[in-house]
Amino acid sequence: KDQSAIEDWQKLTFKYMKTTQQRRKKFLTVGISSVSPLEESNLLYTLDSLFRTSSKAEQKHFTVLIHLADSDLTWLGETVARISSLFSPEILAGQLLLIHAPSDAYPPVDGIRNNTYSGEFYSKQNVDHAFLMSYASNLSDYFLLLDDNVFCGPNFVSHIKWKVTNMNSKPWVLLEFSNMGFLGKLFHSRDLPLLAHFLLLFYREKPLDRLIPHFRTLLLQKNPVLCRPFLFYHRVSHPSFDDNWKTSTVKKKDSYRPDNPPGTVFTDMKAFDVHFPWEAYTLDESFFWTYNVSVGNHLTVLLSHPVNLRRVQVMTGSLVEGKYTLEKGQVELGYTPERMSEFCTSFTLLGRLLEGQLDQEVFPKNIGHSVSCVRLVVKASQVGGLMIRHISLWEE
Ligand SMILES: *[C@@H]1O[C@H](CO)[C@@H](O)[C@H](O)[C@H]1NC(C)=O
Ligand SMILES: *[C@@H]1O[C@H](CO)[C@@H](O)[C@H](O)[C@H]1NC(C)=O
Ligand SMILES: *[C@@H]1O[C@H](CO)[C@@H](O)[C@H](O)[C@H]1NC(C)=O
Repeated sequence: KDQSAIEDWQKLTFKYMKTTQQRRKKFLTVGISSVSPLEESNLLYTLDSLFRTSSKAEQKHFTVLIHLADSDLTWLGETVARISSLFSPEILAGQLLLIHAPSDAYPPVDGIRNNTYSGEFYSKQNVDHAFLMSYASNLSDYFLLLDDNVFCGPNFVSHIKWKVTNMNSKPWVLLEFSNMGFLGKLFHSRDLPLLAHFLLLFYREKPLDRLIPHFRTLLLQKNPVLCRPFLFYHRVSHPSFDDNWKTSTVKKKDSYRPDNPPGTVFTDMKAFDVHFPWEAYTLDESFFWTYNVSVGNHLTVLLSHPVNLRRVQVMTGSLVEGKYTLEKGQVELGYTPERMSEFCTSFTLLGRLLEGQLDQEVFPKNIGHSVSCVRLVVKASQVGGLMIRHISLWEE
């Protein structure tokens, strides 16, 4: 609580992290500080998204570090128990670390400038993050700051690696993989002790998302570097989905979830080296990212066997801002008249996209019978990015 405590804080942190320090350094630490109530399961959802959107190989390159920053010990116990039961493989593999800073380690967190509730809130939030960052400083080469209510683009680690490599020798302090709050901010881990110290000095001045740009300019990066497509988005709560998710965290199969029978995806739209076309047909939050599409371009799911479809949903555009949608497009169902044919030769219009989306029961019913292809066709050229989030199919 006095000045000497601030000087000691670094030493204290190291004392408690000796064993983790001895592990081999990874490429990335994903840091999250959480105080949200357990009922909302946002943190659990975020963890699930982090691990589910990454391949086994990619998981070797990052550690997820969670600071459970609520002083309520009942909450702490319940959250630890819940996370340990759902993510025990990740914990045992050292891919998931949970930490908690005792409340007597905190400096006073009232707002000095402005004695309001929000001042108090962000003061504590800044200190929560100072502890998080201080703990993370020797775990990896880079540190990615998230919060506890996000979903991630697929293969985000590979994408970040690619971006970092492409910065070559250009010096940077902060790369931003989201333009929201303090979400998706990437730092060099070597800067973390300084950043933690900075937060402990100025925690009462401003909220975290406004302190970070100051830190960036102090370390002489004048302008923000935004890295598109953004890899992290805030999750919009959806009650029915949340309920489903809660009851089926381990086994994810229920009537709300699409069936997406086996098939291959092909397209004549340009593909980036991340966000591949097939990612539009997976059942997670991955997506296909392309740009500058022309009339007649298509993305086609060729099903391994003809199926009877009950419902089709095609979503384009980013979930939160609704950007990068396909402005004019339509969805068609295709058939293979000849048994041996590998491609669909006849197509029927199912419907047109409205604001980049289509969600439709198949009607009349018979056009949903023995469907072999579902394709999205571009009806007007458009310049710029296009995000095809998913094609979901429900069988009869
Ligand atoms: C950081 O970790 C390495 C091992 O990866 C260890 O040798 C070193 O002492 C640690 N540094 C600090 C400051 O703890
Ligand atoms: C405290 O901050 C809020 C929001 O920044 C502002 O509206 C309010 O006037 C401030 N109160 C005082 C006493 O300065
Ligand atoms: C897309 O088209 C615009 C306008 O023709 C062009 O300036 C831009 O470079 C293109 N984007 C890509 C990624 O090729």
